[in-house]
This record gives sequence, structure tokens and C-alpha cells, in this order.
Amino acid sequence: MSAQIGVTGLAVMGANLARNLARNGYTVALHNRSVEKTDALLHKHGGDGDFIRTETLQELVDSLEKPRRVLIMVKAGKPVDSVIDQLTPLLEPGDIVIDGGNSHYEDTRRREAALSEHDLHFVGVGVSGGEEGALLGPSIMPGGSRESYDSLGPMLEKISAKYDGEPCCRWIGTDGAGHFVKMVHNGIEYADMQVIGEAFDLLRSGAGIEPADQAKIFTDWNAGTLSSFLIEITAEVLGHTDARTGKPFVDVVVDAAGQKGTGRWTVVSALELGSPTSGIAESVFARALSSQLEQRLKAQDALQGHEATVEVPETFVEDVRLALYASKLVSYAQGIDMLTAAAKEYGWDLNLEEIASLWRAGCIIRAELLDDIMKAYAVADERPANLLLAPAFTEAIAGAIPAWRRVVATAVQLGIPVPVFSASLAYYDGLRRKRLPAALTQGLRDLFGAHTYNRVDTDGTFHTLWGEDKSEIEAVDTH
Ligand code: 6PG
Repeated sequence: MSAQIGVTGLAVMGANLARNLARNGYTVALHNRSVEKTDALLHKHGGDGDFIRTETLQELVDSLEKPRRVLIMVKAGKPVDSVIDQLTPLLEPGDIVIDGGNSHYEDTRRREAALSEHDLHFVGVGVSGGEEGALLGPSIMPGGSRESYDSLGPMLEKISAKYDGEPCCRWIGTDGAGHFVKMVHNGIEYADMQVIGEAFDLLRSGAGIEPADQAKIFTDWNAGTLSSFLIEITAEVLGHTDARTGKPFVDVVVDAAGQKGTGRWTVVSALELGSPTSGIAESVFARALSSQLEQRLKAQDALQGHEATVEVPETFVEDVRLALYASKLVSYAQGIDMLTAAAKEYGWDLNLEEIASLWRAGCIIRAELLDDIMKAYAVADERPANLLLAPAFTEAIAGAIPAWRRVVATAVQLGIPVPVFSASLAYYDGLRRKRLPAALTQGLRDLFGAHTYNRVDTDGTFHTLWGEDKSEIEAVDTH
């Protein structure tokens, strides 16, 4: 018996993907650095399907049908390189090496280039959905050669989540495209979670609504346009009571949010691409600020707030819902804008309709909204330059604006930080404004550094002789 795919790295994500593959009828060869993990998996879940136990990478490779498919599920970073280095000499031209971890897309690009020198395919696969998704059907974002997808794609599509019977897995593009899209997914995930947190803080600190009652509100919200996995689990977490103290669970958890890095990568990449992902960036900074516990402790007593006493409007809960929806929409718009910028930079032919389609189920940011986002990009000639310009969303966000402004204004007066609500609103206003103060910035740059500017009334690049008679000259050189 030979296996159709081998999995090396059997921690929870690797083990669950291996089980998912076996449950879908594939014979899966298993390998782990310490064989105990392999045996534990076989002992507990051997009945899930056909597995082949191997002890070494050579045995793993020998157990596979050709072209071989080897899925690496080890920690992102050096461990991936180490496994690739050990595997490469054992493989033959045409074999496919797959990295299913949260690897940085630049690493994936580098690895893909290196392996193609050996005539090996390297496929960087973004997998979203956590442990449960890996077992029951994740959203899958594979990058790499089209040829490798012909051989690997059907397997990935089979084990992926389904939305209306459609697999949440599509070939994304060459080299690092899959991991890039997964990274942006995570950036949106950060922003999504932060706006939920801001809504929670506003409802509690602004309107005095306790977590258990908020759980009901979030459950209600989940029945409307905000319907999504993250809103659903927010209701679950807010409704949970700590068994030890009888207090709301959220009150016994230290308010310092961790991060493994994918949100930060999104922002670094956005800065490099010149893509204004302010909502996502603020969500990463909000986690960073929350973790500065020592400074926060000192600041609690030292820094004045001068908060105003403002009446929270009667419509507050609904206002917050609308502000949350609008801010969330902006995060998606910014994430998608970044995908467009990356496609240009890296030569990827990213299909936004398909990307939105495979985020509809299985992944952490799955939401009703994504079906509409997908539709917004469905007609080639009518693709909006920005998601917010898709007629359905232009209208939806217009309906939310009065509430959004009220919420941000109230939050500012009450001293409740709403970095993503407010950054998203500023982005929205910046996008729609006829004239931005960037004209002044250009004037200043020209004065102190002769950086030149363009005029509104004629083509060309100009410089004003600020230190002389302030006459204008046409500049050839831009610096
Ligand atoms: C997913 C998740 C998953 C993980 C992230 C976020 O799509 O299944 O995004 O990949 O939860 O890495 O982790 P941090 O919040 O620790 O950065």
C-alpha cells in the first residue's frame, strides 16, 4: 500500500489535517520527529482511515505514490527550513512539498525559488479555522505552481470547508500568494476582534451593560448583518461565568492581548506596499498597548482624563452595532486594497471574488458579509476600485454614518479608546474628501527639501524657488 500524501509534524494542526485527509478516503503516511506522537495519533484515531506509520523521513518518502506530496506542519520559521533541507535530497523532480503553517510569504517565495532549482514544487498553503477547522474543514489558501495545484488541489478541496456545497479552497497564485492572502486574513481577523472589543468596552463603560447581558446583545447581532463566527463566539465568551469566583469570565482574564506575529506582518507589509491599512494597524497597536502592563499601571494614576459627562444617547446599542459594522467593512476594504497592491507588486493574478468566496466558511473571519463581498467582485467590468465603492456597501455604510460619528464622538468624550472605530472613520472621511491637507505637506516638502509637487491645473513637476523670488520652475528631477 502506498500513501497519497505524507504529513510530517503531528502537533494538533498537523494531526487534525492528517485525520481530515484520512476521513476523506486518502491514505496518509505519518511522520513526526518523535515517534511517540505518531503512535499516540494512531492509537487514538487510527480508526479515522488508512494511515501508514513511518519513523524516518526516508520511510515517509518511500511510502508515497509519485509524484510525492509531503505536507510539512511544523512551527513557522527555521523548523520549516530544517525539514525542507532534510527532505530535498530524498525527493525526485516533480514531487510536491507543501507548507501548511503560518509562514511568512517572503519565506515561501524564497523556498519556492530554491526548490524549483531542484525541479520540486513548493506549495505554501494558508490554512484557517483553528484546530476544529483543520479536522472538520478549514478554509484553504494554496499558492505555488498551477501544475502542482492540478495534482494537489482536488485533495485540498475535498478536505476544505464547504459553503453551499462550494469548496472553500482555490488556487490563489504563484509562490507566496497563498501565505500572503492568509496573512491578510489574519490582519482582518485582528481588526475584527478589536472592533468587537471596542463595542464591548463602549457598551460596558458607556452604557453600563454587564457581560452576561451583552452576550444576549451579541447573539441578537449575530442574527443580522454582523452574522459571523467571531460575533457568535463573543456571545459565548461574554456569557461565560468563572467557576472559581462566580465573576464574568472576561473580568478574571488579564487584559493583555498576545500575538504570534501574523497581524504585525500584515502591517509591515502594508507599510512597504504603501497601502493604508490603518484599521488593521491600530488593532495590532492596541494589542501592543494592552501588553505594556507596567506603563499602564503607572499611567492609571498619573495621567488625567478630563472626561466630559455626556448623556449616552438612547440609541446607543444600535449606534454601536452600526459603528461596528461600518468599521468592520473598512477593515475588509483595507485588507482587499492591500491584496490589490500586492498583486501588482508580486505579479500575482489575485481573484478577489474567489478569495472572498473561500473566506465564507471554515476560517476565523467567516461572515455573512463575505458572500456580498464576493458578489461585489463577481462582474469583471464592474469591479469597484475600493470595496466601499461597491453600490451595496456604499449604501450600507451611508446608513451607518450618523451612528458611527455619534459613537466615536461619545467615546472621545468619555475617554474610552476606540482606535479602530475612529481610524476607520478617518479612513472613510479621508477617502471621500475632495481636498486633503496633503497639498500642504507637498508644499512643505518642496520648501525644505525641494521635493517638488504637481499642479492641479497642468501636467508636469514643479518646484518653487522659496529662498529666492518664489517663482516657480519646472523640475525634471524628483527626489
Ligand atoms: C486561523 C487563525 C490562526 C491563529 C492566528 C492568530 O486562521 O486559524 O488565524 O492562524 O489563530 O495565528 O494568532 P495570534 O492572535 O496569536 O497572532
